Amino acid sequence: MHARKVSRGFRFLFRPAFSTDLVAICFPVLYYQPGVQRSESGIREVFVRLASEGDIVLIYNERDGKYFVRRLTSGGRLQTHTGEIFHDDLIGTPIGSRVLTHLGSPYLLFLPTTDELVRNLKRRSQIIFPKDAGYLVMKLGIVPGSRVLEAGTGSGGLCVILASIVGSDGQVYSYDVREDMSRLAAENLAFLGLDDRVTFTVREAADGFDEADLDAVILDMLEPWRVLEAAHAALRGGGMLGCLVPTVNQLTRLIANLKVHPGFGFIEAEELLLRPFKTLPERIRPEDRIVGHTGYLVFARALVRSDR
Ligand SMILES: C[S@@+](CC[C@H](N)C(=O)[O-])C[C@H]1O[C@@H](n2cnc3c(N)ncnc32)[C@H](O)[C@@H]1O
Repeated sequence: MHARKVSRGFRFLFRPAFSTDLVAICFPVLYYQPGVQRSESGIREVFVRLASEGDIVLIYNERDGKYFVRRLTSGGRLQTHTGEIFHDDLIGTPIGSRVLTHLGSPYLLFLPTTDELVRNLKRRSQIIFPKDAGYLVMKLGIVPGSRVLEAGTGSGGLCVILASIVGSDGQVYSYDVREDMSRLAAENLAFLGLDDRVTFTVREAADGFDEADLDAVILDMLEPWRVLEAAHAALRGGGMLGCLVPTVNQLTRLIANLKVHPGFGFIEAEELLLRPFKTLPERIRPEDRIVGHTGYLVFARALVRSDR
């Protein structure tokens, strides 16, 4: 048995008149879906977005929390640990539906969030944690249209987040000393269709950047204090610097260097702690094992220098 869909008699209701990717096809329809509770009248009014060929979807196993992120292709197959799901059975199915593997194991069909996309990237380096990335973006004032630089690129985790936020009117410039990292990140961005928003450069960051007048520079690399001069040269007056370092030793050295740099002021250092909870209704409490440490965040603002 293939994954179950909305009963075929009603499928014509969901066919989009034209194919768009992330534009929600939001129109209220009446529909029946096996497995979804009905209201008293037996009819539910819902907003429906149908999965289309080319969509990146999240296929989530409610029982064990495992999930898969895949681009839907005609004829494609997903081999899960509890059976196979055929892409053709997902194409045309409302996002938010319950679907079954050929062995009858239930999964939920969603569009992935940025967090889920980032966690699912092919990686060869530690990727920034969502708690740090979300806060960093807000503290640095990154918005649609921003021009932002990051060093290093790594596997492209932060790059995906930045590219999603700056949108098609903004630009991300990403530097890494390692060519293999730059290539992997470029592949990851291309898979998500975000590559036109990012310019990758293979270079030692301390050697300087090609860009100027940037809104923000983010240093997520080994020795950010060696890159302060280059970061300042790339920032606009009042532009934001954000650094992520994992050890107290790096934090100490970075702050010491920032404090004596004539091009930076308004220095802040912070650490975020996140404690996930179990959501079993009778035993709501913190998880027993958590990620105890990710990194320290350091922020500063570029000053217009009077010594030049
Ligand atoms: C922790 S990873 C970056 C992770 C990335 N921001 C992410 O979220 O996926 C650090 C990267 O910095 C690069 N790197 C370290 N020192 C560098 C330097 N001096 N210049 C440029 N890149 C550097 C490393 O090659 C590595 O890929």
